[in-house]
Parts: sequence; C-alpha cells; structure tokens
Amino acid sequence: MEKFYITTAIDYVNGSPHIGHAYEKILTDVIFRHFAKRTKNAYFLTGCDEHGIKIQKTAAKLEICPQDFCNNNAQKFVQCWNLLDIHYNQLIRTTNTNHKKIVQKIFKKLLEKGDIYKHSYKGLYCSGCECFLSDKDLDENGCCLIHQKKPDLVSEENYFFKLTKYKDRIIEYIKTHPDFIVPDFRAKEVLNQLQDIEDISVSRAKSSVNWGIDVLDDDSQVIYVWIDALSNYITALGYNPEGESDELFKKYWPANVQVIGKDILKFHSIYWLAILMALDLPLPKHILAHGWITLDEAKMSKSLGNVVSPENVLKGFELNHPDAFRYYLAASAPVGKDGNYSDLDFKEKVNAQLANSMGNLLNRTLSMLVKYFDGIIKPEFIVKNELFDKAQVLIDKTKTHFDNFEVQEASAEIMEFVYELNKFVTDNAPWTLAKEEKWTQCGQTLYVVLELMCVVAFLIEPYCPNIARLMTQQLKFDINTTFDDIMFSNIKAQKLISKEEIKPVFLRIDSEFADKK
Ligand code: MSP
Repeated sequence: MEKFYITTAIDYVNGSPHIGHAYEKILTDVIFRHFAKRTKNAYFLTGCDEHGIKIQKTAAKLEICPQDFCNNNAQKFVQCWNLLDIHYNQLIRTTNTNHKKIVQKIFKKLLEKGDIYKHSYKGLYCSGCECFLSDKDLDENGCCLIHQKKPDLVSEENYFFKLTKYKDRIIEYIKTHPDFIVPDFRAKEVLNQLQDIEDISVSRAKSSVNWGIDVLDDDSQVIYVWIDALSNYITALGYNPEGESDELFKKYWPANVQVIGKDILKFHSIYWLAILMALDLPLPKHILAHGWITLDEAKMSKSLGNVVSPENVLKGFELNHPDAFRYYLAASAPVGKDGNYSDLDFKEKVNAQLANSMGNLLNRTLSMLVKYFDGIIKPEFIVKNELFDKAQVLIDKTKTHFDNFEVQEASAEIMEFVYELNKFVTDNAPWTLAKEEKWTQCGQTLYVVLELMCVVAFLIEPYCPNIARLMTQQLKFDINTTFDDIMFSNIKAQKLISKEEIKPVFLRIDSEFADKK
C-alpha cells in the first residue's frame, strides 16, 4: 500500500461534541491507526463545519459574533478529540482563510464552466439538513424525515449546480464500483435517490443567510453549505483549482476512505461525486457510511435532553485514558449498522473483555514468570505450538476485516483469540506444572502466552493505544512494529521483567465509581 488518506465528516460547531460525533472520530482513528501500521504514508483529516443558518441563529441568540462563537465551540471539539486520543494530522475549519479562498475559486471555476448558473427558485428548506427537500424527503405531515421538523418555504434567486448533468456518470460509477459505498446495502438506497435528483442550490441570498463564504463578484450571495463543506477534503490538502496544487494534494488525493454518518450519505455519494467530476478530479475509493449511536436504545437529541458527552463518560467512570470508551464504541456495531451506548453495558463489556480477559491474562502470566523463574525466559522455553498458526490466521483476518472497514468484526476476532489464550492457560495449568516441578513445560506455557500477547497488543493498539503501550512496555515489544515486520520471535531468552515492573494494564471499572454518575 503506497498511501492511505482517510477523512471524517466535519462537525457543525453549533453545539458541543457528543458520543455520536465521537463514535465517528474513534472509528476513523482506529482505521487510521491500523493502516498506519501498513503504510508510512497515512494521513487523517477531520474538521469543523462552521457556516450556515444554524450557526448564525445560535450565535445571534447568544448575542455573540458568529466567528467568536465558532472559535469557542471549535475548541470544544479539539479538546474532545485530544481527550479521546484522536490522532489526526489536520483539523480543518471552514472559516480558515485558505479554505474560504479555495472554495471561492472552485465556485468560480464551476461558474465559468457553466456547471453553476443563477436561477429563481421556490422550495422547502430544512435548516437541519441545510438543503432543499423534495417530496420524498418528507413524511405524511410534511416534516423532514430526518429532523422531524417542518421545512421553511423559501423563495429566492440562487446559484444552482447542474447535478443532473452528472447523474448518469454517477449511476455508472456506483454500479461499476460495488465496493465504493460501504456497506454495499446502502448503494441501492443511493441509486434510488439518484432517480429523481434535481439541480441543487449552492448559494443563498445574503438577505436570508449571511454566515457563509461570499460569492466572488456578487455581493448579494453567499456560497452555501454543501459546496463549502464538502470541499474541505481537498482544500485541506492544498488543492488549487487554478493551477498547480500542493504536494500534499498530489500525494494523498483521492481519499482511500471517507467516513461519514448514514444521514449524509446522499451528499457524499451524489453531490460530492458530481463536484469532483465537474472539477475533473479523481473520485474517492470508498465512502464508509456508519450507523448511528443511540443512547439506551433511544435517539439522542437536544430536545430529549439525553445528549451524552464523551468527557462525562470518562469523568463519571474516573477513567484516566479513553481506551475503554474507544474500544466500546468502535466495537458497538457491525460495519454500517446502528450501535448503542449504555453505562451498564459499557462497564460490563470493558470489565469482562479488557480487564478480566486481556489485562488479567498478561498480569497473571507475567506474575507466574516472576514467581517461578525470577522473570527469566530460558532458551528451552522458546517452543512454538499450534496457537502460533492461529495467531497468523488472526493477523490475516484482521487485515481483511480492515480492508472491508469491519472494525467491530476485527475486534471480536482479537478478543476471541484472547479467550483461546486464556483457555490454553487453564488447560495447561502452569501452577500445577510448577507444583509438579515440570519446569520446562511450565516455562513453555508462559512463553507461548507472552509471545502471542505481543500479537494481541499489536492488533489491539488502534483501539486501545494506552493499554497497548503498557502491554508492550512489559513485554519489551516495540510498539512501532509494522505489519511487514511482525514476527513470532518478540520474546527473547533473557530476563523479561521484575516484580516491580508488573502493572495491571487496565483496572476493572469499579461499580462504586459507576454509582457516582
Ligand atoms: N457538517 C455536516 C457534515 C459535513 S461533511 C462535509 C454534519 N455535521 S454534524 O455535526 O451534524 O454531524 C457530523 C457527523 O456526526 C456526521 O457524519 C453525522 O452522521 C455524525 N453523527 C451525528 N450524530 C450521530 C449519532 N448519534 N451517531 C453517530 N453519528 C452521528 O452533518
């Protein structure tokens, strides 16, 4: 693999980050960290979407200028991603001067090409979706299917983008690239939506919305939301519509995968493709449309007052790093399906899997190595068994799962292997072997577990970077090992560890902590 470019949707900054936003960033970060072990050239872009009527209105309500409002709220997203160890290379904000300039140039180029034209229009506008709706987007009460709100009737002269010109090419592309939309069952949905698409409004009159990027040479209009927001994926890399683009763009575009929520798939698999086609740019290889995270099986929403912030989860459970939360969310749903967060389930799963199965196994094994052999691996302990073949299968399967963006599925395989290692210890009972003074057999059992725990730490690292670091420190295994150089000879015949160096890698979330929530 030569390079890997991955992006997330950019979040509207009219509120604070919640666990739904966090799910997407964690999912993307896990995929990114996995692929960073497979190529040196991996790049991860995330960002904030800062224009539009929603932000204009919220800022007005708070009597604060929209830019200050965005600056304050963008910080909340940055802080949240730091807290969750989201390892992005760049966080783009659509109010960046550079982004705005490039978007204006993109708009101008499309206008000159005749793909953007001015047109008087009357339509139903949903400020939740930040777009005009057609009958298909409405329920029987005339409300937006996604936001359950009546759209506004808007009548204006706007600039329109000739989406219809690209309709056939988009259909063709989706049909001939069955793995473009992940999961593939969503492609059908998009092909249906394509049947009755119309040209789309890409500007708004300043008299109704002024918080946007100005259209060059027309001071009555601002460029509106989707052309501004979608372009972030290329403006961040220094795309230049008028000449030579930056090295970053040449190196990384097209994206390998663009991670977004299922609610904005239409914009990414139809509008975005059409814009790229109009700009004569290559198309992204995959769009990964993840499902939604519900809270205790209910939709999260401000009006229901059940929006949960990642900070509160970490604080409530007194977690000093985000690994358990990352692991839980990343493993919450099969690719593309909805997932759920509940405090109880969170606690039970991470206690059972990260603390009891994985953490304890390492802790017990190292403790026995110290107790019986003073922490020393002797040359005669180094003997491979059939679990090594299974570990190789696990590595291959994990790669295949990630090739298909099956993040939950990969974590389940890794955990399954941890259960097997636990079973191996129970079956071979090294404590009994020690009692019977079968020292070589006892040492061999411990060696197998420790060697294969290096593989587990390596594979789990994208989900749990802090836990994996603690594991690899105790195993004296290099955390920067790549898929090219992972081998089954990490544990050497030497003194591996002393009693003082053994630390639990993940403590059970104590129920008394949970009660504090
Ligand atoms: N600004 C647009 C995206 C523009 S991308 C060029 C937007 N912003 S958003 O803040 O509403 O959503 C950002 C991302 O978070 C979207 O991919 C959305 O699907 C995702 N999620 C928002 N709530 C979510 C859940 N409850 N669960 C999972 N993801 C959800 O849309």
